[in-house]
Formats: sequence, C-alpha cells, structure tokens
Amino acid sequence: MKTNHVLVILGSPRKKGNSAILAQQISQGAISEKAEVETIYLHGKNIAPCKACMTCQKKGSKGCSIDDDMQEIYAKLIKADAWVIASPVYWFTMSAQTKIFMDRCFALPAYHHDPFRGKRIAVAMSYGDEDAVRSGCINALRTFQDAYRFTRSSLVGMVYGSAMDAGEIRLNEKLMQDAYNLGKMLAAK
Ligand SMILES: Cc1cc2nc3c(=O)[nH]c(=O)nc-3n(C[C@H](O)[C@H](O)[C@H](O)COP(=O)(O)O)c2cc1C
Repeated sequence: MKTNHVLVILGSPRKKGNSAILAQQISQGAISEKAEVETIYLHGKNIAPCKACMTCQKKGSKGCSIDDDMQEIYAKLIKADAWVIASPVYWFTMSAQTKIFMDRCFALPAYHHDPFRGKRIAVAMSYGDEDAVRSGCINALRTFQDAYRFTRSSLVGMVYGSAMDAGEIRLNEKLMQDAYNLGKMLAAK
C-alpha cells in the first residue's frame, strides 16, 4: 500500500530556511513515489498555545476550545497518511512554533478515534552548531521519538544537519540525498 497524502509542517519563521529545504527534499522524494504533498507554514498562522482547559480530554468532547487556525490543521492532520515535521533548533530544542503545534495536537483524539496510530512521520531539523548534541538538536529529536512512540505512530526517519545561514544546508549534498530518500521511504510502505 502507498502513502498518498503527505502533510508538511514548517516550524521555522524562515520560509526558505534550512529546515524548510530539508522538508522540500523529503517532499520531492515522496512525490517521486506519487504522493501528494501539502505544506503548512506555521509562522504564518494564528495558532495560540494550549491553555490546559482540558475541554478536549472530556468524554464526548468535540475538540479544542480555541477557535483559531489549528482547527483547519486538525482536519488536515487526520486526513494525511504521513506528516513531515520540520524545525530549526532554537535554544537547544525545537522552535516555539513547532512546540505550540505539538502541544495543540493533544486535542487531536477529540476529532478522530486513534488519530496518531500508524501515522507515518518524518522529522527534519537544522542547527547552527557543528555538533548535533552540543546544538541541542538531540533534545528535540528525543522529544519526537518519545512523543511518537507514546502515540504509537510510525517514526520513519529523521534527517538533521548543521547550517547557520538560510540555504546553507544545500551544501551538504549527502544530507540532501538522505532527505530525498527519506521522502521516498515515507511514501512507499
Ligand atoms: C532564536 C534562535 C535560537 C537559536 N538557537 C540555537 C541553538 O540553541 N543551537 C544551535 O545549534 N543553533 C541555534 N540557532 C541557529 C539555527 O538553529 C540555525 O540557523 C538553523 O539552521 C535555522 O534553521 P531555519 O533556516 O530552518 O530557520 C538559533 C537561531 C535562532 C534565530
């Protein structure tokens, strides 16, 4: 069976930044396997942080009580066969935009029974330091691993590399190829 619909979540304010470029490579790999790709740029959306009202956790809940752009994203997340989460490292972990998105996904089960289970997921990250551990990237990678193990999703792979200026990541040809290959893997079960 093929993964038909891939939803890309961009967590950097830099639309053409390094993590977005990695996500684009993943998308190209998925498209080569005939997947359809839709991209969401979180920074351009109105998405408030979770306020812990627990409305979404109540029996019979109809979803998150916050009426903002996350409402349309819930529907897209459920519909997609696979997600690509792309984020820069900010202060030794994922960007705030990405973290707010992750927190708001707490409400996803109120919209659909078991929405995470079996979802195919790829992660793309970039950081300024030369080292993945020293940069703090490892903290975010570990968070994604723990989160998607908890939700019984299928974390297909993670690509990450060092680059400070927007676009610099393209110089890392092996990483570009790895990202493309991850996209192919994401789409071809
Ligand atoms: C607010 C801010 C915080 C950052 N914190 C870190 C950090 O903790 N570790 C690191 O290695 N790089 C850090 N960086 C550098 C970015 O991770 C790096 O430039 C990355 O490639 C940006 O990805 P993007 O182009 O997708 O936005 C930081 C950059 C900014 C703007």
